[in-house]
Amino acid sequence: MNIDLVEGRDGEASAPGEPVLEAEDLRVWYSGPSGPVRAVDGVSFSLRPGEILGLVGESGCGKSTLGRGLLGLLPDGAARDGVLNFRGTDLLSLKAKQAYALRGGSLGMIFQEPLTRLNPLMRISEHFAETLKVHEKGISKAEIERRSLEALRVMGIPPTRLRAYPHEFSGGMRQRLMIGLTLVLRPAFVVADEPTTALDVLVEAQIIRILHDLRATYDTSLLLITHNLGIIAEACDRVAVMYAGKIVEIGDAREVFTRPRHSYTRELLRSTISLSTTGLNYIEGAPPDLTDPPSGCHFHPRCPDAMAICAQREPAVRTTDAGSRVACWDADRRDGLALSEAESAPLEREEIAVADEA
Ligand SMILES: Nc1ncnc2c1ncn2[C@@H]1O[C@H](COP(=O)(O)OP(=O)(O)O)[C@@H](O)[C@H]1O
Ligand code: SF4
Ligand SMILES: [Mg+2]
Repeated sequence: MNIDLVEGRDGEASAPGEPVLEAEDLRVWYSGPSGPVRAVDGVSFSLRPGEILGLVGESGCGKSTLGRGLLGLLPDGAARDGVLNFRGTDLLSLKAKQAYALRGGSLGMIFQEPLTRLNPLMRISEHFAETLKVHEKGISKAEIERRSLEALRVMGIPPTRLRAYPHEFSGGMRQRLMIGLTLVLRPAFVVADEPTTALDVLVEAQIIRILHDLRATYDTSLLLITHNLGIIAEACDRVAVMYAGKIVEIGDAREVFTRPRHSYTRELLRSTISLSTTGLNYIEGAPPDLTDPPSGCHFHPRCPDAMAICAQREPAVRTTDAGSRVACWDADRRDGLALSEAESAPLEREEIAVADEA
């Protein structure tokens, strides 16, 4: 996997304008048999128009819950609180009907396995027309045609295919058609939850081009959840690293990849890079049970840099000189925070029994 940063990428980390989306201390939890599962536990960030924010972290850290929570697409029994504003509208106090009206039109979601939504009996043009008519009452035929062709172009599908049926497309193209059906509505904010896992890795470059086109054509802001750090490095302005329901580091993608501050970010980058070099090299252990996460910094049982204070007190979020936000005692210490000898002593852990002594 190539995570070299591309020179000549648009450069600036921020797009002008008021934030499209602002989350502050957002929490999402599921009810579970042994208490609430705190899948999103106090997340704060904002997105500007046209900005692409990558979201990374191991499975079970709350990425999908955050993405769905932002759009209000949570299952029964899940709840949210905190602050969540979309273009100045408080999403958390919207009535169900108002929230439904926003979804699709202004807020979009690209799912991991979208193929099921294409009707085999309907031409692609009919799919586009139906979607547009539902969300934009009274839209003209000419406008439907224009917008459909525009969506096809952004997705890299020839205009001559507009009247084809779903089965006439390859799997990868069908997936792009589904993305096109989300984008034809020109949503201001889209969540894409691992849109590329089902695709061949060769399609990666194409996806990156599409993401750039998307911004240029629609000024859409995107939260991109992916395991593919190569795509994040090349397509995202900023990256957020999530662990156990919290964003532990967020900043300019280039900065975070070249100078990760949080120990979890470093371990995550190390484990991913080594996938293509020395074989599998996972971070030992697994993310915690979110009904009862570890005290202090949730990562402390797995962290190679853990100090005594890490198990006792949760690190506060701090803005670094490079403009990232990071919550890590070790990063604080490296940047000059004075800790006592007792606080900075290496964390004593119970020995983890190693089963296989060959
Ligand atoms: N519908 C659900 N009901 C209860 N718990 C859930 C549900 N969906 C996800 N979870 C739990 O929430 C946590 C975060 O899951 P998820 O958001 O899917 O993480 P990720 O996308 O990072 O893999 C996990 O502990 C998962 O088991
Ligand atoms: S706060 Fe401590 S345990 Fe958590 S990542 Fe930083 S050094 Fe590791
Ligand atoms: Mg997920």
